[in-house]
Amino acid sequence: MTGERFLVGTGFSSAIGQALVTMLPPDWNVLALGRTPVRGSSVDYHPVDFRQPAERWLPEVSQRLSHLARPVDGVVYMAGVTYSDAVESTTVGEWQDTLAVNLTAAFHLGQVLSPYLHRDSSVVLLGSVDAWHASQVGPAAAYGASKAGLVGLVRHFAAEWGERGVRVNGVSPGALHSGNGPADLTVELSVAQRIALGRLGEPVEVARVLVFLLSEAASYITGAWIPVDGGLNLTY
Ligand SMILES: NC(=O)c1ccc[n+]([C@@H]2O[C@H](COP(=O)([O-])OP(=O)(O)OC[C@H]3O[C@@H](n4cnc5c(N)ncnc54)[C@H](OP(=O)(O)O)[C@@H]3O)[C@@H](O)[C@H]2O)c1
Repeated sequence: MTGERFLVGTGFSSAIGQALVTMLPPDWNVLALGRTPVRGSSVDYHPVDFRQPAERWLPEVSQRLSHLARPVDGVVYMAGVTYSDAVESTTVGEWQDTLAVNLTAAFHLGQVLSPYLHRDSSVVLLGSVDAWHASQVGPAAAYGASKAGLVGLVRHFAAEWGERGVRVNGVSPGALHSGNGPADLTVELSVAQRIALGRLGEPVEVARVLVFLLSEAASYITGAWIPVDGGLNLTY
C-alpha cells in the first residue's frame, strides 16, 4: 500500500462499499475487513467473520495493524446483517448474529483502532433509519436494536476521542436499491410513497456522504447522525 491516507473498513463487498471504493480520492488506501475478499489497486483485504467472538478475530486484526505500523486516518464500519423476522420468530442465533455483526464488532474494532487514530482521523458508522422507526416492509427488531446501539456508540466514541481531534459520526440510510432494500416492485412502490423524494436511494448517494464525512470539509462535525433517506416518514 502506497497512498498517503489509510482507511480501515468493513462491509466493502456491499453496494455502498463498492461505490465508496470508486469514489474515494486516490490518496486513500483501504484495508477491508470481511468474509468476502475485496481487492483492488488501493485495497488490501483481511479475512474476518464478525459472527465469531471478538477473541477469535481481534488479536489477528491487532497484529496486522501493528505490523503495518501506520496511523489510521479513516474508519468506515458498514458490516450489517438483517433477518427481517417478527419478534416471536426471531431465533436466539439470529439475535446473537445481528448484534455481533452490526454492533459488538463495531465496538471492538473501535477499541483496537483507537491507538492509531490521531488529530483529524474520521470514523463513520453506518446505521439505518430502522434505529428510529419500525419498518412496515419487514419486522426486524434485532436489526433496529443493533442500529440503535450504534447511535449510542457514535456519541460515546465522539465524546471520548474528541479531545484528541478524532471525529466520529453516523450515516443513516433509508430504503436503498441494494442488499437489504425492498426486493419486489410492489413493496418498493409502497415504500416510495412514504419517501418525500418519491423514490428509493442509490448506494452511491450514501457513499457520497461517507466521502464527505471522511474529508476535511467535515472538520467541525462530530457526534452527528446524517440521514440519507430521501425524507422518509416526514409525514404521518
Ligand atoms: N440496503 C439498504 O436499504 C440499507 C438501508 C439502511 C442501512 N443499510 C446498511 O448498509 C450496510 C450495507 O448493507 P447492504 O444493504 O448493502 O447489505 P449487503 O449487501 O448484505 O452487505 C452487508 C455487508 O456486511 C458485511 N458482513 C455481513 N456479515 C458479516 C460478517 N459475519 N462478518 C464480516 N462482515 C459481514 C458483508 O461483508 P462480507 O461479504 O465480507 O460478509 C457486506 O459487505 C449495512 O450496514 C446495512 O445495515 C442498508
